Amino acid sequence: MNNLNPVLEPLKDSLMDLACQVTGFRRDALRVGAIEKMVQERASAASWEELAKDISAGSPTFISQLAEAVTVGETYFFREPEHLRFLEEKVLPSFSGCPLRAWSAGCATGEETYSLVACLMAGGVKNPGILGTDLAQKQLETAQKGDYPTWSLRGAGEMYPLFEAVEGQVLKVAKEFKEAARFMKHNLLDPLPAGEGPFDVVFCRNVLVYFTPEAARQVLENLAQALVPEGLLFLGPADIPFAPPGFKPYGPAELSIYQKSPAPNVPLPEKPSPAAKAHTVTKSASLPFKKENPVSEITLGKSLAIALHLRALEAVEKEEETEAGRLLGCLRREFPDYLPGLYEIALWNVRRKKKAAAEELMRELLKKLKGKSKSRTIPGPQSLTAGFYRVSAQAFLARKDER
Ligand SMILES: C[S@@+](CC[C@H](N)C(=O)[O-])C[C@H]1O[C@@H](n2cnc3c(N)ncnc32)[C@H](O)[C@@H]1O
Repeated sequence: MNNLNPVLEPLKDSLMDLACQVTGFRRDALRVGAIEKMVQERASAASWEELAKDISAGSPTFISQLAEAVTVGETYFFREPEHLRFLEEKVLPSFSGCPLRAWSAGCATGEETYSLVACLMAGGVKNPGILGTDLAQKQLETAQKGDYPTWSLRGAGEMYPLFEAVEGQVLKVAKEFKEAARFMKHNLLDPLPAGEGPFDVVFCRNVLVYFTPEAARQVLENLAQALVPEGLLFLGPADIPFAPPGFKPYGPAELSIYQKSPAPNVPLPEKPSPAAKAHTVTKSASLPFKKENPVSEITLGKSLAIALHLRALEAVEKEEETEAGRLLGCLRREFPDYLPGLYEIALWNVRRKKKAAAEELMRELLKKLKGKSKSRTIPGPQSLTAGFYRVSAQAFLARKDER
């Protein structure tokens, strides 16, 4: 930095340190010219002395402006189309008609977020809820508005329908896509606020490339926290050269997609749902109860089923009957061979006094368990064995007269 006023000269290093601290950037990734420009502009609105005071005190407004100045908001619609294609072809078929939650982390002006929305909607995902976050408030304002210069397509076509009209040189994101996305200011160095997430899919592309290894580690930890077990993390090709801790590569290596590890025996809610209660009874009756799903048994279909199952349990727990019914309906429709789902839905029917439906499901469960050894673990929110499901279904059907 060469052009700073003498008042600020002694603060030069603090200014750079502050910028690194706020963003997680390496020093060499800071756009020094942009910092200089921002400082000059700020100083013309106040005095150099006031500015120096703001820097020393770390004033929130100043920090926010500094972050905006150093970040690089390069983005465009349908960037890395292979990611979207992979999502459409390999992931979305399991979600068809079901909800899917995604986070576009470091979304800049929102082109990535809307591309995701367009891909999910084209893939049949109903009511996708997509969160776009960024550190730069100005960029988020553009995202919220949903109007873009045609350059935001970089001369490429509209990979999925997204725009309602092209007015002159302006691409206008159609209302239904705007309604499916929401934007929020958020620093990736911090955990997401309570109540946000968990997400099935996180895109955090072309963000970590600027970060120090320590800051990148912190961000990856936060992203992992925000994903469901076995959820997918899409990174940019140059972001990190290895699978993040707690993830394994997923799909073709060149796509930089990673899958979070399965849940190690997900804890049950404090006030257990009927299914959870049944699991607890079994546990105390010392039926086989494994701590982890064997990774070899996990397929993406199974992991999505488990994620949906967990979400349904959450709704049951919160006594959101309609939502629970909808999610369990999705589970039954999309994953008819997912045995913990059949069992859960049977119990749901018992609670709703639909005995005939419950019995039918228990019988179907028994049929699907045929030939499975009793010690075989069936992946689910709790990894219970085939023996557990068989004994429970048989006991349920045998007690028919007592009910
Ligand atoms: C190069 S853009 C990438 C945009 C988009 N993900 C894509 O791939 O097209 C990087 C974005 O990350 C944001 N960013 C950088 N550091 C961040 C941080 N610590 N927290 C949140 N966002 C950050 C920047 O503001 C910028 O908008």
